[in-house]
Amino acid sequence: MNIIAHSSPNIALIKYWGNRNDEWRLPAADSLSMVLDFPTVKAEIEPAKTFTVRSYDHAGIEKPQNEASVQRLKKHWELSKQFLGSIGRAKGIPQDVSITIRSGIPPAIGIASSAAVFSCLAEGYSGLATGTPLTREEVSILGRLGSGSGARNSFGGYVALENHGEGIESAYGRQIADEHHWLLHDIIIVPSREEKKVGSTEGHALAATSPLLKERLEQIPGRMRKCIDALQAKDFEKLRRASEEDALDMHRVMQTQTPPLEYLSDATHRIIRDIEKLRTNDNLNVLYTMDAGPTVHLICTEDSKEAVEKFAQQQKDCIVFKAKTGSGSHIVI
Ligand code: DP6
Repeated sequence: MNIIAHSSPNIALIKYWGNRNDEWRLPAADSLSMVLDFPTVKAEIEPAKTFTVRSYDHAGIEKPQNEASVQRLKKHWELSKQFLGSIGRAKGIPQDVSITIRSGIPPAIGIASSAAVFSCLAEGYSGLATGTPLTREEVSILGRLGSGSGARNSFGGYVALENHGEGIESAYGRQIADEHHWLLHDIIIVPSREEKKVGSTEGHALAATSPLLKERLEQIPGRMRKCIDALQAKDFEKLRRASEEDALDMHRVMQTQTPPLEYLSDATHRIIRDIEKLRTNDNLNVLYTMDAGPTVHLICTEDSKEAVEKFAQQQKDCIVFKAKTGSGSHIVI
């Protein structure tokens, strides 16, 4: 039986950077994100004699994955089988699968496409297991085995990725609040469509070379608490302070690791300066955050959305995408 699954990216409010185990993508610290409703990824999983991948881009054009991507997808499949075996859920899991990925995410726009793709596959693989459905935590673990931040897509709304112990199963998502709790928008400003030179997987593996990582890891539990409290209380100002502090802190770690990673561009800094001015002048509920790229995510409340969109559209030579709080990964059939 073929399984079809859907997923979408998420945007971190407390960032995941650095692993305690690279092989299993066990993060060095907890993280927290808002799941987005757009753009979506669809994956079709079919039992097969050998592992094969077909993929289509956002325009529906077949775009073969490069060898490194195929190897990453295959490794994820092997780790998924290993994990499902370790929890006694191997029944129904075929030796191999043929997967078709249709991604609605334009490449290299600075929104986490790997999280969306691997959480989508995780959802699809979970649907192959016979018997009772896997728990959302188990689906989260499957996602994490392909992309650390993909663990935060197995629930809707606001999701923490938390560490519990040592084994392959020892980090998974927890829903802080669902997508109906608080509608926030993410107005995404993309200043450059250049492929990034160093991807997150490589970057995580070198995070420990930064002299600032230790202090960052000590700060995260306090910031996580603040962010969780802010989300539960819908306290935008508290959320803004904790999440902006954390985003800038992650970029300082990236910039001081060996070799240094500079993902932010002049355009990023200019957008940040201008939005800071605008929100003070116009009293807007908007916060900025950046992942591993120059793209600026402006997260705002419904009442500030129009002004933030107008600001985004005024940015020269930038592409703008709009998303909002979403419902996470799902099986469609
Ligand atoms: C900067 O989950 O993309 O976006 O496991 O290599 O896929 P891989 O890493 P990934 O790392 C996310 C890094 C980040 C911050 C975040 O989303 O928390």
